[in-house]
Formats: sequence, C-alpha cells, structure tokens
Amino acid sequence: MLPALLTEVPGPASRAWVDRLAARECPGITARRARRAAAIGTADTDPIVWAEAEGENVWDVDGNRFVDLCAGFGVASVGHRHPAVVAAGQAQLARLPHAMGDAFPDPRRIELMERLCALTGQDRVIFGSSGSDAVEAALKTAFLATGRRRILTFDGGYHGLAAAPLAAIGYHVEAFQQPFSALLGSFADRAPYGGGLQDLSAYAAVLVEPLQGRGGMRAPPVGWLRSLAEAAHRAGTLVIHDEIYSGFGRTGTMFASENPADPCPRPDLLCVGKALAGGFPLSACLGGAAVMDAWGASRGEAIHTQTFLGNPVGCAMALAVLDVIEDDGLVARAHATGETLRERLRRTSGVHAISGRGLMVGIHVADSLAVTRRLLENGWIILPCGEHAEALGFTPPLAIAEPTLDAFTRDLQDAIALSAPTTAC
Ligand SMILES: Cc1ncc(COP(=O)(O)O)c(C=O)c1O
Repeated sequence: MLPALLTEVPGPASRAWVDRLAARECPGITARRARRAAAIGTADTDPIVWAEAEGENVWDVDGNRFVDLCAGFGVASVGHRHPAVVAAGQAQLARLPHAMGDAFPDPRRIELMERLCALTGQDRVIFGSSGSDAVEAALKTAFLATGRRRILTFDGGYHGLAAAPLAAIGYHVEAFQQPFSALLGSFADRAPYGGGLQDLSAYAAVLVEPLQGRGGMRAPPVGWLRSLAEAAHRAGTLVIHDEIYSGFGRTGTMFASENPADPCPRPDLLCVGKALAGGFPLSACLGGAAVMDAWGASRGEAIHTQTFLGNPVGCAMALAVLDVIEDDGLVARAHATGETLRERLRRTSGVHAISGRGLMVGIHVADSLAVTRRLLENGWIILPCGEHAEALGFTPPLAIAEPTLDAFTRDLQDAIALSAPTTAC
C-alpha cells in the first residue's frame, strides 16, 4: 500500500517518544536532529517511531503509513509480520521459547541446520544472534582450520561492530575503530574491493561481501570473486563470504555469489543473518566438514557458545521464512522486480548511477541525505549508503508491488528536483 500521512513527519507523537528516548538511551545510538552534523549515513531528521508493520508498510505512532524501502535493514525480505512466520514463531513460543545453547538442543534447531546445509551445499553450522556473531565464528574457524593468524578484508566491507568484525571492517574505518583501538586485534589487512590480488599465503582467510551493502550496494568487476577464490585456494587460504545482507534472494539469486552471469566457487565459510528469521535475531556461519571439523569435539565446556545459541523461536521462524521464499518464488521475483526498477530509474532525472543487483540497489543521487529526508516526509523509508553516503540503499521486501515502485520513482524524481534544483533544470 502506498504512503498515507496524517501528520507532518515526524509527527507530534514520534517527537514526544524521541524526547523520552533521548533522556534514557546512551546518546551514541539513535541519530537525532541535534547531532545530525556528526551522523554517519543517516538522514538529518529525528526518527519516526515505529508502532506496527505489515508487508511493505510501517505505521508510526502518529498513525502515518510509510513504505519501508529498507525492509528494516534487509531483515523483512518476506515482508514485515508475514503471517506464516508469525504463526511459526507463536506456535514455538507457546511450546518452547528457549532451549539450552550448547547443552541441550531442540528439534527446530536441528531441522534448520539440515535445511540450511541443503540450501547452501555446506555441511556444518554455528548459530549466532547477530551478523557480528556469524562473522566472528567464521574468523575463529579460519584461524583453527589453517593455523594462520591474519585475515584479508576489503575497502568498503562492513561486517558488524562487535570487536572481532570491527577489526576487519573496511567501511568508516577511522570513525568506527579509532575510539576502541585498545579492544581490537591487529589481525586484518585491507585491499581494494575488486582490485588486484596479492599473494595470499599469509592469510587464514579472505573475508568478502560478494555484493557490498553498506559500502554502497556495489558489486565487484565480473570475474573478480572467482579470481579471488582461485588465488585463495592456491595459497591454502579460506574464502569467507559475508552474505548477511545479500543472502536469501535479495540480489535475485539465492545468494549473491550464485549470480549466473558471474559464477564463482562455493565459499569455504558462509555468514548469513538479517533476513534469515524474518525479524528474530538469528545468524549462522556455515562451512564444509573439513574446515568446521577443525574445532574438534566438545569436551563438555564448549569453546564457542552463547546463552541463546540456536534459539527455538528463531529457528522455527527461519524455517517458515525459507518456506515463504520458496513457495512465493521470491528469488525470481526479486530479479524481475529489480529489472523493472532499473528500467524506471534509468528514466528518472537526477539519478546518475544505479548499482547493485536484484533488490539490493544503490540509487546514486547528488545529495542523498536531503533526498532521504524529503522521501521520509512523503512516506518513504530509505537510508543512504556508501562511504560518502553517495547513494540511497534500496532493499525493500522482495514482494514489493509494482504500483509502489511507480509511485516511488515519481516521488524520488520530485525529491531529487527539490533537493538539488540545479540537477533538475
Ligand atoms: C554484510 C554485513 N555483515 C555483517 C553485518 C553485521 O550484522 P549485525 O548488525 O546483525 O551484527 C551487517 C549489518 O549490516 C552486514 O550488512
């Protein structure tokens, strides 16, 4: 459904909630008007406060209806509050909301591991709660499996802000890492994304997003992922694909690395999260038996676990998400809708480049922060992306309706014209 606004944006109820938030939340978290100059990649307006969501829509506490073109950071790929996912979560919640991490598993966790392995061609799974957890599990696995101690990552790569992935990011590195340098290991080197490949024999692994999300919805040049894998394997170095943003159909193939126009070998380790459980915090690191078995058998005191490891509600919801993606043909739909969007965007003046694939799209405009704010004021939720906020990151629910796309591209054109009048002449 298209946006329907009852108040100015943000409305009085949102503003009142945000004032209460500001009194209690650590000031470094939610971007607010007073700190807009320092904000990284966020629109310079107070947030709206979300009250409810369904499908492609979000309602705020003022009753305004928005279209969520971010799918909540890429989480709601099957749409917000999908009935099958909610039903699976509710049924599990009523039966067993929690099992015991590494001590006592439950059937849903085992079913989900089987399902994920069948889907990815991997053999073994380590669950986590956040994307950061999955990346950290992959890094630990690479160290164990190779005995090496260094990781190669890439400019523009984002892997999460917990200490281990933070040490390996290539996005806003100075701002994100500098205050916490004492916490960070110095195990990561960085190379240009899509650039020339050096000797990799010093590295336990290369950690790469097959299509960079926060870094600007950018794909590397065709053939680069394959060359990277070949160079890594020649050097006995593992390949870790971070598909936390790009996984589960978002790019028009189940995983970004499965692009038929740019084939590359299956990674040694694969990180997934975000869309996996349709809104429940769940992530996973998957790998082949030869690599994962480097962990050795648990001797009773697991050397890697969490209280909520493989939570049953998340696993039940993830099983439902995978059903919905399959039953509703969402991968093919993301591909087709992505093509339609590109065609509309090519005719939108002020859009000077389009990056990404499927429904993981970077819309490059002159003043993305101003355009983002104007779009929000017209009922469209979208965030800037890229090292210099050079694009709008378009990652909507995969079943976004065509009339919604049409209305969005019309409003986008207006927002660009109003934000950068010189580009509209
Ligand atoms: C590619 C990628 N990896 C890892 C992460 C970190 O995930 P989380 O924020 O759940 O820790 C993100 C989050 O945006 C991501 O886009």
